[in-house]
Amino acid sequence: QPQLKGKDFLSLSDFHTDEILYLLEEAKELKSLQKQGKPHPYLSGKVLGMIFEKSSTRTRVSFEVGMLQLGGHAIFLSSRDIQLGRGESISDTAKVLSRYIDCMMIRTFSHDSVKELAEHATVPVINGLTDLHHPTQVMADLLTIQEHKGKLAGLKMCYLGDGNNNMAHSLMEGAAKVGMHISIASPPGYLPDGKITEKAIETGKLTGSKILITHNPVEAIKDADIVVTDVWTSMGQEAETEKRLKDLAAYQVNTELCQHAKQNFIFLHCLPAHRGEEVTAEIIDGPHSVVFDEAENRLHAQKAILKLLLE
Ligand code: CP
Ligand code: NVA
Repeated sequence: QPQLKGKDFLSLSDFHTDEILYLLEEAKELKSLQKQGKPHPYLSGKVLGMIFEKSSTRTRVSFEVGMLQLGGHAIFLSSRDIQLGRGESISDTAKVLSRYIDCMMIRTFSHDSVKELAEHATVPVINGLTDLHHPTQVMADLLTIQEHKGKLAGLKMCYLGDGNNNMAHSLMEGAAKVGMHISIASPPGYLPDGKITEKAIETGKLTGSKILITHNPVEAIKDADIVVTDVWTSMGQEAETEKRLKDLAAYQVNTELCQHAKQNFIFLHCLPAHRGEEVTAEIIDGPHSVVFDEAENRLHAQKAILKLLLE
């Protein structure tokens, strides 16, 4: 049995395939207990601190509810209100919070800030989204795919749109770890980070996951089991909105493009979504969409992460 106690959860590339699959099994177990109304207070008396430097609906609520259902407690720490926002250092914040709480979650801009927090904290640190990675979301995505498709390895995922963002990077890492093929189609200037791509390709060689990066959306979506997209303008990029709308227009997930996917494809989006931009209402509100199962699974996947890092 993989041992995750005391580890940080910063990006999926830090975990072995068997650890990711084990987390997913744990998530299923916790989901089933919750559905049956059976108490599961594995983290009784434990406290999670959640630092937010960016907005959030799902991440904040699912972590808070998750801790409550596990018998613990969560504290919401907006960077606008804590001294971090007034210039107190990340390392001092990490050392101080470690004296009070059992685990930290942080949503911020720079991935290096999360690494620095983890370096100085003596309790596990969970990445709740950075500009580079969104690993807790992808755990929920993998759980959702498993539930709808019955497996992960050998499936083909297609991601269309901004390939140089947190979702594209974490999906690529996650797919590579579990042996799922992934094709990412993005326009020039929006391709995924080169280092993350190279590392995922190396991982894929071990797991049988084929990774394709292309400018051609039809090539990417061909015979896909899973179609995914994300917002064209991520948090912090608001000044580029107009340019992005133009640059990414040909990568909209719509009925026409989805005709090239497998007939029984499922559509995922981490939300929030912009109907009429990265995806049409017809797709996201249509029969292939599983976006609300996906949003629910944030809760179950994160409870598994919290339980295994802390119990
Ligand atoms: N998907 C996601 O992380 O949503 P929030 O920004 O609402 O947390
Ligand atoms: N890529 C998006 C994801 C939001 C959950 C962003 O970073 O804003």
